[in-house]
Amino acid sequence: MDLKPGRPLDLRECVQLLDEARVRTLFLIGPLPEADLAVQHSSLMSPIVWDLGHIAHFEEVWLLEKTGTGPDGSEGLRGIYNPFDNPRASRDRLELPSVAEALEYMGRVRREVLARKDRLGPRDDDPLLKDGFVFRLVLQHEYQHDETILQTLQLKKGEPYPAPRALALPEPDAGWADRIGSMVRFPGGMVEIGSDDRSTVYDNERPRHSTEVEPFSIDAAPVTNGQYLEFMDAGGYSNPKLWSAEGWKWLQKSDVESPGYWRRRDGRWEVRSFDRWEDVDPIRPVCHVTYHEAEAFARFAGKRLPTEVEWEAAATWDPEQGEKRAYPWGEEPPDPTRANVDMMAFGTAPVGSFPGNVSPVGCYGMIGDVWEWTASDFQGYPGFESFPYPEYSQVFFGTEYKVLRGGSWASRPGAVRGTFRNWDFPVRRQIFSGFRCALGGGA
Ligand code: AVJ
Ligand code: FE
Repeated sequence: MDLKPGRPLDLRECVQLLDEARVRTLFLIGPLPEADLAVQHSSLMSPIVWDLGHIAHFEEVWLLEKTGTGPDGSEGLRGIYNPFDNPRASRDRLELPSVAEALEYMGRVRREVLARKDRLGPRDDDPLLKDGFVFRLVLQHEYQHDETILQTLQLKKGEPYPAPRALALPEPDAGWADRIGSMVRFPGGMVEIGSDDRSTVYDNERPRHSTEVEPFSIDAAPVTNGQYLEFMDAGGYSNPKLWSAEGWKWLQKSDVESPGYWRRRDGRWEVRSFDRWEDVDPIRPVCHVTYHEAEAFARFAGKRLPTEVEWEAAATWDPEQGEKRAYPWGEEPPDPTRANVDMMAFGTAPVGSFPGNVSPVGCYGMIGDVWEWTASDFQGYPGFESFPYPEYSQVFFGTEYKVLRGGSWASRPGAVRGTFRNWDFPVRRQIFSGFRCALGGGA
């Protein structure tokens, strides 16, 4: 079933997609005992049972309340699941439901949606129902919370999450190993950024607009562990010249000396992925680095981070045809044969594992594996209009957040595309974050 932006969805497909999303959420939490679902593992994250109730609550708000479809006396906005009244750090003090209660709530909302689905069919006179928008909103919300849950499970202390690895990665194409660290050229000129699609994309991806980019170079592949180790071995973490003032301040307060989840054993670096410690693989993209670390590495390499316009141009623009693609390889949505997405590999893949995951100008792996930090603050595009609620994007616009692009191994295919914008604080690295560098251009 494909979630290509703009493809019309009929009601039957919407319902199948809701079911599919729920099956995945329940699959992820299946191996966890109640205690691990109930506790808050980190002040950065919610107790997982909160994510579960919040997924149901979001579905209730958007598919039942906002469409005017809910039953009379619907419970409405259940206060504890409002993310703004209850910031993550305080979610351990809420009166949370038991896991059984949360699952019951999820099931109850879903049954109410199904009972009233005929009123939710695509309709041109309602922007929420037009082209299935509100279904994709609810679907993408659950997809994104699945990725959040995986961040929590990777962070969790105590008994590690027994990752239900269900996918063997393909053998990497050896040709790509030699191209790590090489750059490709983007010729510059007018490019189209964003999307006008009203069925799928978030308000922050709209409107589509033309903009001029100066010619620039960009890494052909994401920065790998092997490259990052060179930065570490060269004393990157103790050289203030490589860091911004803000980045250096962060570094002094944290006691970071490697990417997240790394440890040194007998002179070698190992990395933990959920329940598994492995030697750091030099040809996998580096993961769990902050914006500040990405920026320091770029300076070490004599490069810089790309702006998000440069990133999107390199990922989606075909300069020869003067055309934009939905994804680097074309119009077909991502799946685990095209890119390392959809979480079942439970980790990053060696560069070259998906030889078709290459953009028109020759960038590998812009979709999947790791979210890529860009140099850009999270701002609205020219002519931005909030839809359907300002709390998704607009309230986060400003200079506090940096944009990340491209999705990670943990992103569900319906929540990644060439125009999708993610954002986080520059000091965060619980997300599956890496980067690639750029050079030249106007930035
Ligand atoms: C787009 C990933 C930054 O997790 O805060 C989930 C997604 N918004 N529920 C977030 C989101 C509302 C959002 N990010
Ligand atoms: Fe949410």
